[in-house]
Amino acid sequence: MKLLVTGGAGFIGSAFVRLVLGGDAHTVVNLDKLTYAGNLENLASVEGNPGYRFVRGDCADHGLLDQVMDEGKPDAIVHFAAESHVDRSILSPQPVFDSNLGGSFGMLEAARRHGISRYVHVSTDEVYGSIDEPHEADENYPLRASSPYSASKAGSDLLALSYHTTYKLPIMVTRASNNYGPYQFPEKLIPLMISNALEDKPLPIYGDGMQVRDWLYVDDHCRAILAVLENGRPGEVYNIGGTCSLPNLTVVRQILAGTGKPESLMKTVTDRPGHDRRYALTSGKVMRETGWSPLVPFEQGMRETIDWYREHQDWVRRVKTGAYRDYYERNYAGR
Ligand code: NAD
Ligand code: DAU
Repeated sequence: MKLLVTGGAGFIGSAFVRLVLGGDAHTVVNLDKLTYAGNLENLASVEGNPGYRFVRGDCADHGLLDQVMDEGKPDAIVHFAAESHVDRSILSPQPVFDSNLGGSFGMLEAARRHGISRYVHVSTDEVYGSIDEPHEADENYPLRASSPYSASKAGSDLLALSYHTTYKLPIMVTRASNNYGPYQFPEKLIPLMISNALEDKPLPIYGDGMQVRDWLYVDDHCRAILAVLENGRPGEVYNIGGTCSLPNLTVVRQILAGTGKPESLMKTVTDRPGHDRRYALTSGKVMRETGWSPLVPFEQGMRETIDWYREHQDWVRRVKTGAYRDYYERNYAGR
C-alpha cells in the first residue's frame, strides 16, 4: 500500500515509519508540521529510501492535503499527528484543540474527498479516564476524559467513527497505553527521568507517585498498528496495552537503579491538576483478531531505553533547547 503517515517525525510515528520501511510491502509519505516534538533526526535511517518522502505541513491545512492526496494518491492513512503531552495541554489547550481536533478533521475530510481504502486513527487509553481497581476498560467502556489532551482525543475518536457510520469511510481506531522507548521527547515520564538522572538533576514525582500506568514498548505498539492497518475491521476500535501495569514510583526506582543514581534524586512536587490515578485496559480483541501480542518485556525494554539515552546524549542536548527550558520552568517552577 501507499501510506500517508501523519506525525511521522514524532516518537511513535517515526518508529512506525522505520518499521514499515524495514519491509517492502508499503511506501510512505510522511506529513508532519515539525512542532517542538517533530524531529527529522529520528528518521535519518530512512532518508534516501526510494519508498519514502517527507512533506512539511499541517493536518488542518485542507488545501495542502488536497495537493498531497492528488500527488501521492495514497491507498491508506495512518494518523498519528497530535499534541501529545498532558501537562502542555493543561498549560496551553489551544494548540491541542487545533491539532487534535482540527488536524483530525482535516485528515478525515481529505480521506472523504479523495477516497481511501484503509484509515487508522491512532488514539489513547486516556479517553477512558481513571479506572478503579479491579476494573479494566474494553473497547465499549464509557469515555471519561479528564484533561484537555484526553478530551481532544476522545472527541477526535468520535469524529473518526462518525465518518465510518455516516460516509462509510474504512476507519479503524486504536487506543494504546503509555509508550516508552528510544526517541521519546524528554517531557514524558520515562525519558524525562532517565535524562534528568543521567544529568544528576532532580526527578519530579507528582503527588504520592502511586498513579498506575500500563507500559508498552514503542515497537510493540507499532507492530499492533500495522496489524490493525492490514487486518483490522473498519468501524472497530482496538485497545493496545502492554500488560505491564506499574506505579510511577516503581518505574522511577527502576530508572535510578538502571542509571546507577541514588534515590535521593527523587523530589515530590505538587500533583498534576485532574491527574488520572489509574489506567487499565484489556487488549483481547486486537490479539484475537490480528494475532498481535506484545513481545518486549518491561525489564528488557527499559534496559534498551536507558542504554539508548546514555548513548544519544547529543540528541537529548539538541532537543533540550531554550524552548524546552522555558517549558520546564513553566511546568515545574514553584511546584
Ligand atoms: P509526539 O508528540 O512525539 O509526536 C507528534 C508528532 O505530530 C510530531 O512530529 C509533530 O510535529 C506532529 N504534529 C503535531 N501536530 C501536527 C499537525 N497539526 N499537523 C502535522 N503534524 C503535527 O507524539 P507521540 O507520543 O509519538 O504520539 C503519537 C500519537 O500516538 C498521538 O496521536 C498520541 O495521542 C498517540 N498516543 C501516544 C501515546 C504515548 O504514550 N506517547 C500512547 C497512546 C497514543
Ligand atoms: O496512556 C497513554 C498516554 O500516555 C498518551 O496518550 C499520552 O500521549 C502520553 O503522554 C501518556 O500520558 P501520561 O500523562 O500517562 O504520561 P506522562 O509521561 O506525562 O506521565 C506518566 C505518569 O507519570 C503520570 O502519572 C504523571 C507522572 N509524572 C509525569 C511527569 C512528566 C510525574 O510524576 N512526573 C513528571 O515529571
